[in-house]
Amino acid sequence: MKKDLISVMDAAAEIHDLLDLAARLKIERGDHERPLDGKTLAMIFEKSSTRTRVSFELAMTELGGHAMFLGANDMQLGRGETVADTAKVLSRYVHGIMYRARSNQMMRELAANSTVPVISGLDDLEHPCQALADLLTVKERKGGLRGLRLVYMGDGNNVCNSLMLAAAAAGMDMTACTPEGRMPDRAIGDKAAALAKETGGSVELSHDPREAARGADVLYTDVWVSMGDGTDSVMARSIFSPYSIDEGMLSLAAEDAIVLHCLPAHRGEEISAGAMDGPQSAVFDQAENRLHAQKAVLHWLLR
Ligand code: CP
Ligand code: NVA
Repeated sequence: MKKDLISVMDAAAEIHDLLDLAARLKIERGDHERPLDGKTLAMIFEKSSTRTRVSFELAMTELGGHAMFLGANDMQLGRGETVADTAKVLSRYVHGIMYRARSNQMMRELAANSTVPVISGLDDLEHPCQALADLLTVKERKGGLRGLRLVYMGDGNNVCNSLMLAAAAAGMDMTACTPEGRMPDRAIGDKAAALAKETGGSVELSHDPREAARGADVLYTDVWVSMGDGTDSVMARSIFSPYSIDEGMLSLAAEDAIVLHCLPAHRGEEISAGAMDGPQSAVFDQAENRLHAQKAVLHWLLR
């Protein structure tokens, strides 16, 4: 049976093993085995990308395989061929499919019709590979995960949803602090809470950024307006500005707190330039860790 990674739930049981493998592949970079010799990954993009595209292609190359970039608008998919037929055809050619999808429904449809592993490179509900890179970064900086307070500020979006699941699976204490109308997905919140019960972690929702930031070990944010989200930027500023991670908010967190952002960032909006570029920021380690975390995922699913 093929396995997919379209939600963090697909990797929840393996999360510690994947993070250990990612850390090993990072140390051994340039020198590790090439287990994907002869394997090809198709990468379908329905939305823009810098990190996901480059890190997946590089990960395949460094593991001995090959990645193929497919912009949805250059495919028949962009002219109305169904995602199901696309999945069936690609399954006859390649060993795995990475998909950045407009919607989670299309992601699930591709996975249901594919006979090779499907890996999410983001949809409107989740961004699981990002969450793995995020935890790898926290683990490197803090030496562990269990019991750490991770506070996400801003829009309860795909990145927030996956982070809640990953943090819960790793036994962390996660707070998603968002405006009332922009809370994370309710069903994902319930799954994260159930996972946290098993791992000794916890999941909390908050609408009070100053209270939530107090004593945090990790402060995390993402854009106020995601790709495909039509929220007007003036409206976004009025809803989200109290949730911006700036020096004032950082002073409420633990003294050795780190700052994360999945990138791309908008300095002066969800994060100040001082927080983004200051000594507590780990955002560029986090971006690098996409490569190492995804190598572990490719190793796990395609080898
Ligand atoms: N964080 C992230 O997924 O970045 P890209 O949109 O550049 O891939
Ligand atoms: N939440 C953002 C993440 C980008 C990597 C988006 O979906 O656009």
